[in-house]
Amino acid sequence: MAVQMHMETAEGLKIPSLGFGTWQCTDEDELEAALNAALETGYRHVDTAYFFGNEHVVGRVINEWIESERLAREDVFLSTKLPIFGFHEDLVEEYMLKSLENLGVERVDLYFAHFPLHMNYDEGLDDPTFMETDHMAVWKKMEEQVEQGRATAIGLSNFNMTQTERIVEEAAIKPACLQVENHIYLQQRDLVQFCHDNGIVVIGFSPLGSPDVNSFYESIGRPTRDLPDLFQDPTVLSLAEKYGKTAAQILLRFQLQRDVAVVVKSKTPSRIEENFEVFDFCIGDEDMEELRALDVGEAARIVDFSVLSQKLLEQPEWPWHTFTKVSE
Ligand SMILES: NC(=O)c1ccc[n+]([C@@H]2O[C@H](COP(=O)([O-])OP(=O)(O)OC[C@H]3O[C@@H](n4cnc5c(N)ncnc54)[C@H](OP(=O)(O)O)[C@@H]3O)[C@@H](O)[C@H]2O)c1
Repeated sequence: MAVQMHMETAEGLKIPSLGFGTWQCTDEDELEAALNAALETGYRHVDTAYFFGNEHVVGRVINEWIESERLAREDVFLSTKLPIFGFHEDLVEEYMLKSLENLGVERVDLYFAHFPLHMNYDEGLDDPTFMETDHMAVWKKMEEQVEQGRATAIGLSNFNMTQTERIVEEAAIKPACLQVENHIYLQQRDLVQFCHDNGIVVIGFSPLGSPDVNSFYESIGRPTRDLPDLFQDPTVLSLAEKYGKTAAQILLRFQLQRDVAVVVKSKTPSRIEENFEVFDFCIGDEDMEELRALDVGEAARIVDFSVLSQKLLEQPEWPWHTFTKVSE
């Protein structure tokens, strides 16, 4: 089965199916080198977020490529996100403009709502405040960003099925994409199917299981957690041997073959190349079934936003109540 280099939304927006992620890339020199390596390798989809604190570096590198005519603006698909502390109708425009300024571009290809509720932690993570969340009011402001030409398309991130359905039903401009954690252990098949039925491209984040996520928890003073190691999964290892590929390549290819686009992060040049070499082989149907059978569900969720504040769990729009029960 050949996988497409691009995935297409109902409105005909083409999204490169393998994107370069930039979360936890806060060392400017390191990110600059990694993004240069990624663009040289052929990545044409770059994922950042206001929350990642690195839009200025991402924008600088992309603009250097454009100015030196190694890249045309329309050849790179650039996404960023409205942060959790900007998730309110009165704040959308302000944060959109901040992101454009940080990135040094007039328009992003995709502007995501990063998380389906508002939390401000200007006074520190131990003392956050919350504003009431009206999803449709925020989405209307997101739509205005498209109308103003600041974003080609808008999308959702970390929204659950009910929340996504509501936006799809009521929006004037439908979400182009849903970016959610997605990998062999957390396949979210119903949500993926719903998106596919509605012409929404699903972009799976942490496709390798975000093996360095504990360093993020530590960086904000939170305890580390025991997390599944996707690279050690016996099925993945045996398929890697069978196809003469690495575990990472099996994990990425699995997603692409189920029509889930991926954003994958690495600061290591050899891995940046390795992760891009997934278009030259095909996982057979029976092996795809074996990988599908590895799905664990919510208990395998790795990126836990409640580490920011346990008070998130009390918010009506906290998206993962099943997950909450599992981790209690
Ligand atoms: N919307 C959201 O809320 C959200 C949340 C999380 C992530 N994301 C996006 O999704 C992107 C990817 O997710 P992620 O960064 O959490 O995790 P990931 O891409 O699953 O994993 C990244 C980690 O895997 C390592 N790695 C990369 N390629 C490898 C390979 N071939 N072999 C062995 N190890 C490898 C990297 O190490 P080195 O860097 O040391 O090479 C890094 O520690 C993010 O960067 C971000 O853009 C979005």
